[in-house]
Amino acid sequence: RAAVTVPQLYARKQAREKIVSVTAYDASFAAQVDAAGVDVVLVGDSLGMVVQGESSTLPVTLDHMVYHTAAVSRGLTSALLVADLPFMSYASRERAFESAGRLMGEGRAAMVKLEGAGWALDIIQALSERDVPVCAHLGLTPQSVHKFGGYRVQGRDDERAEELVRESHLVAEAGADLLVLECVPAALAERITREIAIPTIGIGAGVHCDGQVLVLYDLLGITPGKRPRFSRDFLAGRDSIAAALRAYADAVRNGEFPAPEHSF
Ligand code: KIV
Ligand code: NA
Repeated sequence: RAAVTVPQLYARKQAREKIVSVTAYDASFAAQVDAAGVDVVLVGDSLGMVVQGESSTLPVTLDHMVYHTAAVSRGLTSALLVADLPFMSYASRERAFESAGRLMGEGRAAMVKLEGAGWALDIIQALSERDVPVCAHLGLTPQSVHKFGGYRVQGRDDERAEELVRESHLVAEAGADLLVLECVPAALAERITREIAIPTIGIGAGVHCDGQVLVLYDLLGITPGKRPRFSRDFLAGRDSIAAALRAYADAVRNGEFPAPEHSF
């Protein structure tokens, strides 16, 4: 399988071929995910929760992200590697350059992801001008948990929905090449996906995004606690992790996942 590139993600959107994405945190799982034909592998700062056992993503450091991104890179042969910029590691241009430099240099990421618009638009533009591909992330942005007061669906009221539409246009104009939409109503994600030129990747954002992403341990059903409404246990009824990952990729590509019961 040929390597997945950033321009190919745009081609997928044009061709209405779904982009399949999942998180990974180590080389062995990365190899499984790559072999299943996943297009985009994200080293998410969800690492803090599912690997480190923290109750938010805020304790994750840049050193943690660099370590896990480098490990994942050694397991991949084709998938595009995206790494999260952790909390506060992109709070200024200088810190963002330093942090992205480490994730792409030591970590071998091909793209970095950051949360928010507003002040972050300047950071997206500064990175993208230096040819650092940026994935934006809007909706439920987990690094904002203390401002939000919890993890809840965003954009249910008209005012917030319009704000998210506006912000989606702005991150695209600032130079982002990909946009994760997390926990927003399906109809809102569909509208944003239609209106902007860059591909959208949904999680809890309905079936009409250009692609889907899940936390690996959610789709394997091994995350402790209650299963998030937007995920499905793809290992249930299957006899291997490889089969579960292939089933997930197939379900995304044929539009079977997410179903209405995984959406808002
Ligand atoms: O950290 C993460 O895993 C993420 C995805 C859920 C989009 O940001
Ligand atoms: Na994240």
